[in-house]
Order: sequence, then C-alpha cells, then structure tokens
Amino acid sequence: MTKKTYEELRSHRWYGVDTLRAFGHRSRTKQMGFSRRDFEGKPVIGILNTWSDMNSCHSHFPQRVEEVKRGIWQAGGFPVVLPAMSLGEPFVKPTTMLYRNFLAMEAEELLRGHPIDGVVLMGGCDKTTPGLLMGAISMNLPAIYFPAGPMLRGNWRGKVLGSGSDVWKHWAERRAGNLSDEAWGELEDGIARSAGTCMTMGTAATMMTLAEALGFVLPGGSSIPAPDANHSRLASDTGRRIVEMVWDDLKPSDILSLGSFENAIITALALSGSTNAIVHIIALARRAGINLELEAFDRLSRTIPVLADIRPTGRFLMEDFYYAGGTRALLNRLRGHLHLDCPTVNGATIGQNIEGADVYIEDVIRPLDNPVWASGGLAVLTGNLAPRGAVIKPGAAEARLLKHRGPAVVFKNYNDMEARIDDPALEVSADSVLVLQDAGPIGAPGMPEWGQLPIPKKLLAQGVRDMVRISDARMSGTSYGACVLHVCPESRVGGPLAFVRDGDIIELDVEARRIALCVSDAELEARRAAWVAPPPHYQRGFGALYTQHVRQADEGCDFDFLETAHGEPVPEPEI
Ligand code: FES
Ligand code: MG
Repeated sequence: MTKKTYEELRSHRWYGVDTLRAFGHRSRTKQMGFSRRDFEGKPVIGILNTWSDMNSCHSHFPQRVEEVKRGIWQAGGFPVVLPAMSLGEPFVKPTTMLYRNFLAMEAEELLRGHPIDGVVLMGGCDKTTPGLLMGAISMNLPAIYFPAGPMLRGNWRGKVLGSGSDVWKHWAERRAGNLSDEAWGELEDGIARSAGTCMTMGTAATMMTLAEALGFVLPGGSSIPAPDANHSRLASDTGRRIVEMVWDDLKPSDILSLGSFENAIITALALSGSTNAIVHIIALARRAGINLELEAFDRLSRTIPVLADIRPTGRFLMEDFYYAGGTRALLNRLRGHLHLDCPTVNGATIGQNIEGADVYIEDVIRPLDNPVWASGGLAVLTGNLAPRGAVIKPGAAEARLLKHRGPAVVFKNYNDMEARIDDPALEVSADSVLVLQDAGPIGAPGMPEWGQLPIPKKLLAQGVRDMVRISDARMSGTSYGACVLHVCPESRVGGPLAFVRDGDIIELDVEARRIALCVSDAELEARRAAWVAPPPHYQRGFGALYTQHVRQADEGCDFDFLETAHGEPVPEPEI
C-alpha cells in the first residue's frame, strides 16, 4: 500500500504552505499554546465528541477523549476535539430520531469545514452511532468509530436489572398496583449505575455491535463495558490506529460494500437486535451508495439463527455478552454466513479479525445447533395495511400472537391514545388489535418510540401482558411485545394505516410475513377520498426542513438532499 505524503493531506493546505491564510492558522494554533513541532508535518485528527451534561451514557467521554488523544500523539498525529450534538436518548424531546440527520449533517460539515485528515467518531447512545457514521461516510475521510460501551448490569434487591426492559416490566406491575413507592424508588437507584449505554440489546448495543460488523471498530471493541479498563485501552488504540489510517488513506468507501452491510444485517439478526437498526442500516447503506431494501432483512432473517441470549428478548445483558467472548466470538460463530473478506479499520479483513475467537459462556452466545431461535430475529411484513413494509421482532412477542386476527381499536394520535387507553369504558379485549395512527417520520414528527402501546389498565388487571399493536412509530430497542412497527407509508402521508377504523378486522401472520386489513379495496378507496391530512407541525425552523425532506422508513428516514448520491459532489472548501 502506498502511503500518503504530508503534502497530500487536506490539512497541508491549512498549515503547510507559505500564505497569509496559513500564517493565520499557525498563529492561531500557537495561540492555544501549541508549538510548530506539535503540528508541523502531522495529520490533523478530528475527535467528534458527543459528550454533554445531557447525555448520561457518554459521561466517561471527557476521560476517554484524553486517552484517544494519547494514542494520536504517540502515533504522530495532531488531535483536535470537535464537540458534536450529543443526543442523550432519555432527555431529548420529542425524540432523538428527529435529530439523527442533524447530527449526520453536523458531523459531515465539521469534517469538511476544518483542516481534518482523519476522524475518531465518539458515540454510542442510540442515534449517535448512525448519525456520526452517516456523516463520515458522506465525507469519506479515514474514519474510525469509538463506541461508548454498555453500562454495568443494573442491581435491585438481589435481582439483575436491564435498561428499558425492566422499566417497562416494573411500570406495568406498578400500574397493576403491585409495587410500593419504596420499591419503585430503589429501582430508580439501581437500574443505571455506571457510565455507558443501555446494557440490554437496545438500539445502542445493537448499533455499536453493527459498527464493528461493518468494519468501523477495532476488533472486539464494541462490547467492552464503559467502566472497564480495557475500554480506556481501546481508546488509545483507536487514537493510534487512526493516524496510520490517514497515511494509508483507508476511507469508508474502501471498507463498505454490499457484503459489509449484509454482515451488519446478519449480526443484527443473530443479536435479535433493535428494530431501529433496520432504519439506520438502510440510511447508512444509501449514504454509501448501496441501495439496500427491506427485502434483504427478510431474506436473511429466514436463515440466520438468533445466538445472543440478551434481554429484552433473552436472559442476559451486555456485560455477560462481553465476558462470554463478545462481538468477535459471536461473529466467529456466524463465520459460515458472513462475507469474511470485507476490510475493516485495522487493515485486516473481518474474517482475520474474528479468527480463533472463542465463546466462553455458551448460555449467553449459543451454539449454531442450539440457538435461541433457529431464525427470524426480525421479520418484515407486507400487505394492504403496509404496502411498503412493516417490521416486527417476533421473539419479543408472546408466541400465541404471531398469528392473530382481531378487531381494531384505533387511536388517531398519541394524545388520543394517552387520553383513552386506560378509560374503563374503552371497548377493548385481549384479542383487540391496538392501532396508533399518525406516529410516523412526519406525523409525530420523528417517528418516536411509541410503538409499544401500553396495555389498557383494565386488561393489565386481568393479567394480560401482551397484545397485537400496530403503528407507523418505532419502538425502543429495549421494548418488547407483539408490536408491528414502521408501517410504511405512514398515515400522515396517506398510508392505509390512516384509514383503519374501530372494529375493522386486522390479520397478522408472521410466518407468512403478512399484515392485512380485512376491508375491501373499494371501501379503502372511499375512505382515502374522504381523508384530510392533519396540518403540518412546523412552519419554520429545523422541524420545517425536516418535514420537507425526510424520507419514509423503508428508505431509512434520511433527508433526500443528504444522501451521498444527491446531485454533484460537494466541492472542497476554498481556503
Ligand atoms: Fe443512551 Fe439507552 S439511553 S443508550
Ligand atoms: Mg433506546
């Protein structure tokens, strides 16, 4: 491999020439206390840091930044930190998904506008992984991902607690009147007790693992718990490696291919990962110029076994997954399914990186001949209710509901649902199908994680814990239940979901991958003709931009104008 010369680096145009502007860049760098020898002749490495006081999952990043920098200095690079939108999942309203593309845009433009030669992307909490990677893929500078890592297991009265999942579960018990204030308070103390992301197989753990499967993380890095000393060492290794990647000119376009995206999908399926990953993988692929469709998920889901026994669908947590051998061990189990020749950030292929990785705890990462399920970690459904698809996580549902026929109970939006779901007069039974309209990318907006509709209180009291629920929303990766999600097109743009009425019969058949509204075409047409779209949420601001440009779920919810193939490439800035 031919190495780049200093004169070929982007930053050379800022720092290495004898011009008035370059004088300004050097003198201003010296203003920060650096000497010429700190930066002269060196690649400038951007560290995109999604730390903030409103991101509990990234609270260890201030220390990790120093460790990344240590590696960069050692390898002869010049590290510069560029803070990027933090997107702490629990705090940002209405939903972080509204801002994933904002982060992607910010990441791309931070790299473009500054003298950056290569980048360490520091993220982990749900939307930060896809947001940072989407921007880096479009910018196509050498880029490596540094995952925040999962937090430690939760702990409560001698029981292990999982992020999200155990909140929903115990909240249902509290609503059913089975949990005291004191017990609830102790649960609050114990469920999130260290830095790091959710430690169930939620969106964060899924996306960090997929970042490794795609080739963007150093081998084994994606499953190290955030407080583990190995996580600090990963930080300096990552810093050292990005400098070499710049000299080698190893870019996202050298790493990504249809094969690497299939590897990511296979990994998501074997993890029984978050349904959100489907939207993000499609968006990432389209940034890389690969037109991945929902069909790929469905095709692969028929043959890929679920091996990771992690909550919410399984029994264990990410800390256990790490001790069991982590991502490398899981991928080595999947060897026969993977495209092993795909390159990765460390310069080796994914096949080389997972060679010899053993599973140490067979209960956590199961053998191929004794999987959690033989197939179907995620399923894609179609039918007249979802002409462009919908998704379900079959393993998260009670098995009896996977083939179900029942009358619809329709909520026209989230407020309507909140107002009526616990009304004792609501006509609903355990066989009803709960339908939430207007919760999609444009409708809600941002396709919030409302897809796990609550079970009506009166049914909870009868012991009902799962029902078929259908929406154009997403669902938290830590959620569970027979929830049909991402119905596409969404109701806000006149998708058939908008036309469902109370009492309509809905048929779900996961085995046949079907979701059907048992209403005649003529009747549906009549309803469509009478339908009036609700007024838009925003007249100005980012929300207005979002509403005008966001694509539907089956296309990854990116903005049309951010897709890498949109129009002519963006020119390098004049200096
Ligand atoms: Fe940050 Fe779940 S809240 S990963
Ligand atoms: Mg989440």
